[in-house]
Amino acid sequence: MNDFKQKDRLASRAFSIKTSIRTRMLQIASELDEVIPLGRGDPDFDSPSTIVEAGIEALEGGLHHYTGPAGMPELRESIAAKLASDNNLHYSSENIVVTNGCQEALFISILTLVNPGDEVILQAPRFESFDHMVRIAGGTIVSVPTFEEHDYALQASAVREVITDKTKLIVIANPNNPTGSLISRDELDKLVRLVIENDLLVISDEIYEKIIFDDFEHHSLAEFDGMMDRTVTVNGFSKSYAMTGWRVGYIAAPEWLIESAVEIKHSISICTPPAMQKGALAALHNAKDDLLDMVRRYQGRRDVILQGLDRMNLSYGYPAGGMYVYTNVSNTGLNAEEFCMRLLRETGVMIFPGTLFGDPGNRHVRITLLSPQSIISKALERMKDFVNNL
Ligand SMILES: Cc1ncc(COP(=O)(O)O)c(C=O)c1O
Repeated sequence: MNDFKQKDRLASRAFSIKTSIRTRMLQIASELDEVIPLGRGDPDFDSPSTIVEAGIEALEGGLHHYTGPAGMPELRESIAAKLASDNNLHYSSENIVVTNGCQEALFISILTLVNPGDEVILQAPRFESFDHMVRIAGGTIVSVPTFEEHDYALQASAVREVITDKTKLIVIANPNNPTGSLISRDELDKLVRLVIENDLLVISDEIYEKIIFDDFEHHSLAEFDGMMDRTVTVNGFSKSYAMTGWRVGYIAAPEWLIESAVEIKHSISICTPPAMQKGALAALHNAKDDLLDMVRRYQGRRDVILQGLDRMNLSYGYPAGGMYVYTNVSNTGLNAEEFCMRLLRETGVMIFPGTLFGDPGNRHVRITLLSPQSIISKALERMKDFVNNL
């Protein structure tokens, strides 16, 4: 066995997943005494108590076993009702699959739709898991840049430029991670026309739909004429209800693909834990005030960050929603990775470089809104001193 080469045994897709700068930063952070975490996309709030109580009650009441792979009927019905009332999307509960987070909803959707060789259009910057999922499915990623002058919102004209006869699917997150950009109704309208003209499909990741600021409005893509049959809407409870650890999300999809999606869901994880599904049910019915309160606080934090960045003379795309501010640090003289590494080592403030989100230029950083306002202010003070001393 001396010549046993472990690497040779790995599947070819496994090589494409490299250890990222995020892992290195988390390692450095673990060795520091005090870190201000503005890196990971995990809310600092606890899940609302009404949700926690529903989960405990479910466990104490004996919900210890599998549910059907598509989820509990009452949760699927409540999700369908929510989509009708909040998003103007009229699905039956049969069109809903409950998943382990939005992550699994995305993965199942991509595995259901993408064949080797299919081109999949992704906006840049983006949630990087999209890349891994498309690669695992054998698809080819086609990246469409977005720009600060549009607050990083995806433009249909840029999408038009990259469509080929191999394009099958567009995956959007709206609002987007890491930019907080929101695609306007007008721009969505143009995108819809392109999709229909070119006979494409869309996965619309709407996990940040409830975290919308000022007077902006979120619109679901499937709501547009002709899109119901071409769109898989994915969403989840992690962000809106501070439930990242509960792992509940869902797919809302047309009939023609739902059966295949349920089979893939079953193959990956059999079902979503029933007590967690009960927590999600409680979120839909009893946590509206908690949600509004968290969004109000996120908006306050966003404002503090934008003011701090203005004082540092760093530009950004105006975040209409989501949990992030995406900032250009190139005028500090450092590239984004150096900026983040040094900021962490020298000040204990952890933010992530845009390279983790498909930013080809290494010029941007993502700051999260996920620490209390007083801590964010402290982080900004440290960041200002750091920038001034460069
Ligand atoms: C755009 C986007 N989609 C999906 C997810 C994953 O969400 P979940 O925790 O529900 O799996 C994230 C997490 O950061 C995200 O930013």
